[in-house]
Amino acid sequence: MISGTDPARIDAFLCERLAPSDAALDDALRSAAEAGMPAINVAPNQGKLLMIAAMAISARRVLEVGTLAGYSTLWLARGLAPGGRVVTLELEARHAAVARGVFERAGLRGVIDLRQGPALESLRAMPGVEAPFDLVFIDADKALALEYFDLAVRLSRPGALVIVDNAVRGGSVADPPTGDASAAGMRRLLDALAGDPRVAATALQTVGSKGHDGFVAAVVLPAAGAR
Ligand code: SAH
Ligand code: DHB
Ligand code: MG
Repeated sequence: MISGTDPARIDAFLCERLAPSDAALDDALRSAAEAGMPAINVAPNQGKLLMIAAMAISARRVLEVGTLAGYSTLWLARGLAPGGRVVTLELEARHAAVARGVFERAGLRGVIDLRQGPALESLRAMPGVEAPFDLVFIDADKALALEYFDLAVRLSRPGALVIVDNAVRGGSVADPPTGDASAAGMRRLLDALAGDPRVAATALQTVGSKGHDGFVAAVVLPAAGAR
């Protein structure tokens, strides 16, 4: 029996019950570790929340910014409505190669479309046929979070969900600026969201196996398109 107030132990308790791992998820984590990639994937219960979000809106077109080894991508793919697809954007060729292997072994090669390169370029080059997206998960370089968010809204349908990881960064987002580009980037996003008429947005802190962090969740309002 796991007890106590340590958020990581409680996360283990929750994930054991509600977000157990399986061969494909294990493969993503193991492949990342073997390739020397940092363990900065979402937690299992967070990944499952992404799956649930996709299911709740019957998402068919999902966009992810920041693939790493594809752990969160697997969860997003599991939330797709029949015939749905995930486009996932990754800068590092090494990460992209590992993730492609993970998707291949999971039998998801036709479902997950990984584009390697700077996400800003991939997003700007995205034709209308791929958009509008139903759900966007932003989890790449935090300094550009606002740019990614803005493009995500432009590429999304009214009613789409935009979820951003790492909104809190141990609380540094609410501290006076320190020169930390990640915290500054997230703060810039939060400041912009406060006055963005295209969306209704909130932010939540999380604790658990990934420490103290948070998510931004936004819904694209009607008539937000074509800007
Ligand atoms: N979503 C993943 C974790 C992503 S970690 C998961 O939860 O499993 C962040 C990823 O963003 C890293 O792989 C990093 O290489 C990638 N990244 C960083 N800068 C980027 C950029 N400019 N364009 C695209 N991807 C970028
Ligand atoms: C870190 C965590 C993340 O979830 C991420 O996307 C990038 C970096 C980190 O803890 O450094
Ligand atoms: Mg993250």
